[in-house]
Amino acid sequence: MNNFSVRKATIDDAAFIARNVMEAVGHASDEKALKTMTRICQRQDTLYSYTNTIIAMVDGVDAGSLTAYEGTNYREKRQISFSIFKEEMGDDAMDLDDMQDETCAGEYYLDSLCVLPQFRKQGVGKYLLQQGIEYAKNQGIPHVVLAVEAQNPDAERLYRSLGFRKAGELFIFNGRYHRMQLDTTPPMRIDIITVLPEMVEPFIHTSILERAQKRNLVEIHIHNLRDYTTDKHGRVDDYPYGGCAGMVMQCQPIDACISKLTSERHYDEVIFTTPDGEQFDQPMANSLSMARNLIILCGHFKGIDYRIREHLITKEVSIGDYVLTGGELAAAVMTDAIVRIIPGVIGDEQSALSDSFQDNLLAPPVYSRPADYKGWKVPDVLLSGNEKLIRNWEMDQAMERTQRLRPDLLKK
Ligand code: ADE
Repeated sequence: MNNFSVRKATIDDAAFIARNVMEAVGHASDEKALKTMTRICQRQDTLYSYTNTIIAMVDGVDAGSLTAYEGTNYREKRQISFSIFKEEMGDDAMDLDDMQDETCAGEYYLDSLCVLPQFRKQGVGKYLLQQGIEYAKNQGIPHVVLAVEAQNPDAERLYRSLGFRKAGELFIFNGRYHRMQLDTTPPMRIDIITVLPEMVEPFIHTSILERAQKRNLVEIHIHNLRDYTTDKHGRVDDYPYGGCAGMVMQCQPIDACISKLTSERHYDEVIFTTPDGEQFDQPMANSLSMARNLIILCGHFKGIDYRIREHLITKEVSIGDYVLTGGELAAAVMTDAIVRIIPGVIGDEQSALSDSFQDNLLAPPVYSRPADYKGWKVPDVLLSGNEKLIRNWEMDQAMERTQRLRPDLLKK
């Protein structure tokens, strides 16, 4: 097993860094450009400065480098390198004037990663990336960003395995790149408190919710209320005062569970699921998906001791005007609607934004192959290839369906 280590680059590494940077963009054979780049790497005020570079070593031998920086003053620093290039390369300098910004303040931009050919396929690239991510975390920089060529699925897979997700497109020197982003802040956390964990557990470990947790985009924790009772028979409910029918969930276990959680971190909301709560809808899902931490307490039996609602609950939510046997399904519905709109959870972020209700409009119909199934035809416009006509058709359909099926949405 090879021994990996990392060191900060020094000014003496400038030529090594320059070669790596040029190699990464396919210009390593241009000796004149290499000399200029070396001068840029020797300075402290450029993006490609040695001060922005770390070097990976395998068994003490330099194997690759990562040049990365926080994006404050990106344009000014980029301009310095451009000017040096223009000055020294004259007409040969690449046309850099109307380049898109690759990064901005608040991002740690992994600009250039290069591993020497003899050290490839040994995990050196991944090691350097991990060092970069660690650095951003330690510095409290909220996002780590990089650009990957649109046609490089192997690299994209590596970045995804480290927690990066696609966040838009970039055009650099006319090449198309995917912007990939990793957030260094802890993901959103949802704590669900229930007397029936076996009902919620399979739900949160299926499909998109399971994938979102694996990708570290959300943490979902389930707490069995019975673990918090001081009753020696494990009871969490009792008869109601006043002699009416049914059982009431008692204060003590709920208080113990919520107090433990709130002593560990701040919660944006402590939600109680109940048919007499505020109606859950898409705007509420959108707003809750911006929270850092949420507690959802599932109601059960006849209800919960009202003092919990008065003293510990900050939001009471119903998923509709009907009564379920417990709040678990309501918690599952809310969790699903909240998590699916966290950026990165659904592959194509556009698809969450084009859901029904996101504009107070129902979604237009969708079709897939074949274009003709048993004589049931896909509307011609969708086969026309005319992007503008298709978008107009979708909008007309969304309006027509909303007017016909949910006219109340248009009055909101
Ligand atoms: N518990 C029982 N019915 C409910 C509903 N409709 N919404 C939320 N929680 C519930």
